[in-house]
Amino acid sequence: MENPLIIANWKMKLNASDSLDLAKRVKKASAKYNGVEVVLCPSFTEIAQVNEIIKGSNIKLGAQDCFWEEQGSFTGEISPKSLQDYDVKYVLVGHSERRQNLGETEEMIHKKVRLLLTIDITPVLCIGETFEERQDGLKDVVLTRQLHNAFNGLWLNKSDRLVVAYEPVWVIGSGQDIDPDEIEHTHQIIRQLLYDLFEDRVVDEQVKIIYGGSVDSENIAQYIARPIVQGVLVGGASLDATHFSTIIAQAKKL
Ligand code: 13P
Repeated sequence: MENPLIIANWKMKLNASDSLDLAKRVKKASAKYNGVEVVLCPSFTEIAQVNEIIKGSNIKLGAQDCFWEEQGSFTGEISPKSLQDYDVKYVLVGHSERRQNLGETEEMIHKKVRLLLTIDITPVLCIGETFEERQDGLKDVVLTRQLHNAFNGLWLNKSDRLVVAYEPVWVIGSGQDIDPDEIEHTHQIIRQLLYDLFEDRVVDEQVKIIYGGSVDSENIAQYIARPIVQGVLVGGASLDATHFSTIIAQAKKL
């Protein structure tokens, strides 16, 4: 099995000094992270300093969002080109918190994914159904629509990588464990949908599907024990260096 991908999404939860302190602690523990690909996504304001802190380690840097143009009159936005200047390798796109709170549309998400691929940053497309959509039996419809609208018409070159993070909106921040059978089944559906969009070989070799939603050191093993779950996107449990390192240790055991 390929190395599991563990992405920490710090959201807007830490002030500057706490972010830098956490980055230092994670870096200190990182000698033990071989065999796992670890990515930290701090706020934009700490990107440059976190990059300096993790330099020389095997930790990679990610961002929580970006704009869909490289340059121009877009007040307040962040160019993925600028992120690249700070060695950002991954960018989260279409997180449900942005879809819900900022009105991020599927068209915007598509444009962000497209641009990131052209500049060799790996997009981490976040998809997932709300509780109401699930209750109404619309989960598969929602996942299909989100995936198609994000990736339709895109072409992956050999060096391009994509990550799809399945994050059921109702599980985020809830502390709930989800039945791993259901996660596995949903990942299978996502993989099938990807086969409709890209060549089989591209899906098998260049796309990873990971899970996010209240992942912690207690439940991670049951998710990533399923080979189709190729990693996790961690929110709350990534904010404490010791807990985060325990998550990584659990991932390594498998
Ligand atoms: P929690 O791990 O806090 O549920 O957050 C998940 C998430 O939204 C990661 O992007």
